[in-house]
Amino acid sequence: MVDKTCFLGIDIATGSTKALLINQHGDVLAKETASYSLSSPHSLWSEQDPTWWTDAIDQVISAVLIKASITGEQIAAIGLTGQMHGLVMLNSAGDVIRPAILWNDQRTEKQCDEIHACTGRQRQVEITGKPALTGFTAPKMLWVRENEPQNWAAMKMMLLPKDYVRFYLTNEYATDVSDASGTSLFDLGTRSYSTEILAALEIDIATLPPIFESAQVCSVISQKAAERTGLMAGTPVVAGAGDQAAEAIGCGIVDSSCMSAVIGTSGVVFAATEKPVIDHDGRMHAYAHATPGGCHMMGVMMSAGGSLRWYVEEVMSHGDKLHYKSLLEEAERITPGCEGLIFLPYLTGERTPYADPLARAAFIGLTLRHGRAAMTRAVLEGVAFGLCQSLDLIRELGISAETLRISGGGVQSDLWLQIMADVFGIPVARVNVNEGAAFGAALLAMVGSGHFDDVVAASTSIVKETTRTQPGANKGCYAPFYQRYKQAYPALKSFFRGYA
Ligand code: XUL
Repeated sequence: MVDKTCFLGIDIATGSTKALLINQHGDVLAKETASYSLSSPHSLWSEQDPTWWTDAIDQVISAVLIKASITGEQIAAIGLTGQMHGLVMLNSAGDVIRPAILWNDQRTEKQCDEIHACTGRQRQVEITGKPALTGFTAPKMLWVRENEPQNWAAMKMMLLPKDYVRFYLTNEYATDVSDASGTSLFDLGTRSYSTEILAALEIDIATLPPIFESAQVCSVISQKAAERTGLMAGTPVVAGAGDQAAEAIGCGIVDSSCMSAVIGTSGVVFAATEKPVIDHDGRMHAYAHATPGGCHMMGVMMSAGGSLRWYVEEVMSHGDKLHYKSLLEEAERITPGCEGLIFLPYLTGERTPYADPLARAAFIGLTLRHGRAAMTRAVLEGVAFGLCQSLDLIRELGISAETLRISGGGVQSDLWLQIMADVFGIPVARVNVNEGAAFGAALLAMVGSGHFDDVVAASTSIVKETTRTQPGANKGCYAPFYQRYKQAYPALKSFFRGYA
């Protein structure tokens, strides 16, 4: 009999799909990614064709098996994760009806207002842990119902991105608690769809997939998928988690002893809680975590690493071949606070603490004394300030941690880590794995296949801190600049409405 000692994590991210194969100790055996683009047919829209994900999935799974020289039989279980909140609509034959509308799509401000008018904003926050936000799934459903009635009429099932890929691999409809809690339809108290909200919005529960806890096995690989990928038919697939919950599991954030910040395209401050902690003002958002019965708070900046990437690759790199390294080196020589130069990182609107799709990015306070290096540093500081606003909201709700673990691409820069430690006033740490959400999904697969008793045990035994950056000599310098940063959005809010 073949030893089943491998676990596969799959992440359907916004820019690429990743397959990650690990062994029972959490060592990475092989990984593969396949990229795709994003389509924005109108201002504020963000869509992808779900076949881009399924084409990618066949490719990356076959590739990791070959790279690790293993057969599908050696995989004990598979975990799925992916971009949250996206809407994939299927007809009765299981075919996709229209392109998926993604988490960063901002077309649904009107529908969010309509949801609050139907459910009551306060009640929406009490039940789901947050107001309906433009990126979430239910407002997208309402948008389709209002604007594409023929597609709405044809729709028999609505899935989140990773759950569409599950359907492709297993023929089963299912989702998990963490992803379901980003739909605006999920009751955090009962960990199931809210019948009250469904009734108010006239959404039929039969069009939604059943919900499972993240480490529960809820489907198996189909014969067809096995033939396409090299996996073995019958391999268990756990429910998995939304990318943020999975990333947190992969970073060891399973209880309130530490928090994390993920600097990917978006920037996420994440705190695990035992029970739902509700911010009645709706600025900080509560979700179900991928730990059984657990919850989490999450503040999301829409463009964190995305701001640096835009700045380096779109603004600074045309013709002169400047790279991250040299730009960050010169930024290190600039005095903290950049003599009052502020970067507002609202390149794709904002979610926390200002849920405003019309917010725009800006450099404020340029003088003749500011050059490229100051602008680079202002981008790094602006993102750190934005994250700190989420951290402060979490602290206001009575949750604090001694350390913040950082993951995502942003972890590579020592300067950025130091700025964050100084701005946050607590140490920031790196951990021994930085494989993103796919790693968390693979850990969930370990639990589902019985290799660990529970998610907490899997995560804490495998994920360890490697470096700690302490707040340094500049710790005290940032307070006045952070104050000014916090004043900028309220001062510009009505100006941003002019972009409507
Ligand atoms: C989380 C969120 C994003 C997406 C894409 O609420 O909107 O992080 O999941 O990564």
